[in-house]
Amino acid sequence: MSGSETTPATLDLTGRRGVITGGGKGIGRAIALAFAERGADLLLVGRNASALEATAQDVRRAGGSARILSLDLTEADAPQRVVDAALDGGGLDLLVNNAGNVRAGRLETIDEADARAMLALNLVAPVLLTRAALPALKAAERGAILLGISSGIGLLPLPFYSVYAATKTGLAGFDHALRRELWGTGVHVATLYPGATATDMMASSTAGEPLGFGRRPVEDVVADLFAALERGEHEINTALPSRRGMQELHRTDPVAVDARLAPNLDEMAEAVKDHRSI
Ligand SMILES: NC(=O)c1ccc[n+]([C@@H]2O[C@H](COP(=O)([O-])OP(=O)(O)OC[C@H]3O[C@@H](n4cnc5c(N)ncnc54)[C@H](OP(=O)(O)O)[C@@H]3O)[C@@H](O)[C@H]2O)c1
Repeated sequence: MSGSETTPATLDLTGRRGVITGGGKGIGRAIALAFAERGADLLLVGRNASALEATAQDVRRAGGSARILSLDLTEADAPQRVVDAALDGGGLDLLVNNAGNVRAGRLETIDEADARAMLALNLVAPVLLTRAALPALKAAERGAILLGISSGIGLLPLPFYSVYAATKTGLAGFDHALRRELWGTGVHVATLYPGATATDMMASSTAGEPLGFGRRPVEDVVADLFAALERGEHEINTALPSRRGMQELHRTDPVAVDARLAPNLDEMAEAVKDHRSI
């Protein structure tokens, strides 16, 4: 899904110095290890210090270096603390906005606190962290990479994921706007749209392949991500082929998707009613 008018320039992923939010586990951890294999110097950010330290050790074993910063990204001072820590001792040419959470279910059953937690972590935190990091990213001599982790739900908003969809389409829109704003600055803005991926985030959902939630191993998703980044792509979709038709239908005729999903609505509501990672 390159969609660009010209052949994209390849991107050098080696020796990056940067921040990965939610680097302690799941997709963020796998991204950290893939950058580590390419000699990165990383600041891993999240709340759970022991998970971050475990990833940091794996990063060192894989050939990179890593420091950790344990904090809640939704705290008001978090963006500046992350950037200050990242710049301590050097510049910044990579920011991965990965940390995220989910609570599925019919909108009226979702607690206000859970709705706010999704909006705060998945949307407000990356906006404010990017805002704080942008001067350093723009100043990077070799050019920088800004990578947002949206979701397949950012391409195909699904029922019972209304708040999550708002955050993931929101992050994708943020990345599109910034990519255009940063034209010619050397900051490569890319967005990953993972379909269901086998991480802790999915543990509480019983929705599987028949409902369009066939799960891919995280290593496969991140291998596809890195291959696409190396080709210089911006829009990186790792959904299973079985999901692509519905994504395309949403793009061309979104209301037609409603009727396609309707026969399975009750089954889907049941399968995702306990899906929660907050
Ligand atoms: N797994 C999927 O199927 C899937 C599909 C599409 C998109 N995504 C997206 O991919 C990203 C990573 O998901 P994942 O599957 O790897 O999830 P995960 O295994 O649940 O990991 C979430 C990460 O976010 C961090 N985090 C959560 N709340 C935080 C907070 N308040 N402050 C700082 N860090 C926080 C967690 O660390 P701490 O708990 O230590 O803070 C953890 O490292 C998310 O943005 C998610 O929406 C996932």
